[in-house]
Amino acid sequence: MTQTRIGLIGLGAYVPERIMTNDEWAQLIDTSDEWITTRTGIKRRRLAADNENTADLATFAAERALADAGLIPDQIDEIIVASDTPEVYTPDTASFVQHRLGASEIPTYDLAGSGCAGFVLGLDIARSRVGVGDRRVLVIGVELLTRLMSWRDRNTCVLFGDAAGAAVVGAGAGAAEIVAATAGTDGSRGHILTAEVGGTRAPFNVERARQLLHQWIVMKGREVFKEATTRMSAAAKEVLTQAGLDVDDVALVIPHQANLRIIQATGKALGVPAEKVYVNVQEYGNTGSASVPLALWEARQQGRIAVGDLVLLTSFGAGFHWAAMLLRF
Ligand code: UT7
Repeated sequence: MTQTRIGLIGLGAYVPERIMTNDEWAQLIDTSDEWITTRTGIKRRRLAADNENTADLATFAAERALADAGLIPDQIDEIIVASDTPEVYTPDTASFVQHRLGASEIPTYDLAGSGCAGFVLGLDIARSRVGVGDRRVLVIGVELLTRLMSWRDRNTCVLFGDAAGAAVVGAGAGAAEIVAATAGTDGSRGHILTAEVGGTRAPFNVERARQLLHQWIVMKGREVFKEATTRMSAAAKEVLTQAGLDVDDVALVIPHQANLRIIQATGKALGVPAEKVYVNVQEYGNTGSASVPLALWEARQQGRIAVGDLVLLTSFGAGFHWAAMLLRF
């Protein structure tokens, strides 16, 4: 079987309406707009409404991606949801999305706990699924991190926001072709960025509930910072090498939006000028696995991507996991 172009045939994203500013955080905890802006570049983030959950955000983004691809839910053959903040513990968020979308009885699965790298990893898996069976695979990155974090821990709470992004991966002449991809894991460092309570190691119980430990992302910020910069630039270089291309050939780099300083350091390590690195962390904060598809969708909406452009995605998150991908629009 020969496939011409396997790649992204539709994009979509959704952010909740409610905007929370740094000044609002400063009224709740010991922080300031100045600290958050200087250390992270974040100015605002979105919060899901009380009646919105993970599958809602995922479905909204998916509907937009399907519309963009000119498809109806019946024409999707598989669904992958990358999320660390699932609708419920079991079944997976993907099964909720299958039902909500009104898709056929197709296989669906979550890439759970894959951190901020989950969406790009999902795209790579989807590419291989399209390659073996001419399928159309819906990949969603969705996160309601404001429900999982502690609202009292200033080391983490100001960083995160809620959002969803989606892409349909398929074959077709108009696809944004996946030219090269890479992904990796270093499982020895999981403790540096983790949410432990609720699993078998630390089951949820009354004592932990009293301490609100079910809402507690633990992060050693500085260590994550260093690792994120190193891994995101190394993964990006690897896909360029695979493709036999140079960073100068790339029109736009879309890194995971965790922190402006990480984004800038990654751009510098890659040797790309700032204007070729997409940044929207100031608007949404760190939205985990939703950050890359949201940025990609927004960049295209803003006319930052033209036909023929090479766009380089690179991401890093809990695990540690990392994943990068080169797209030709
Ligand atoms: O997607 C991957 C997920 N995670 C990340 O990407 C996060 C990566 N790490 C980072 O972005 C940065 O490490 C942070 C933004 C989290 C922290 O920046 P930093 O420059 O590494 O600061 P720090 O952790 O060394 O903290 C410096 C000070 C500390 O006070 P002392 O001990 O020096 O007195 C913190 O207690 O800043 C304090 N601090 C705050 N102050 C005001 C920490 N959080 C806050 C806050 N407001 N929200």
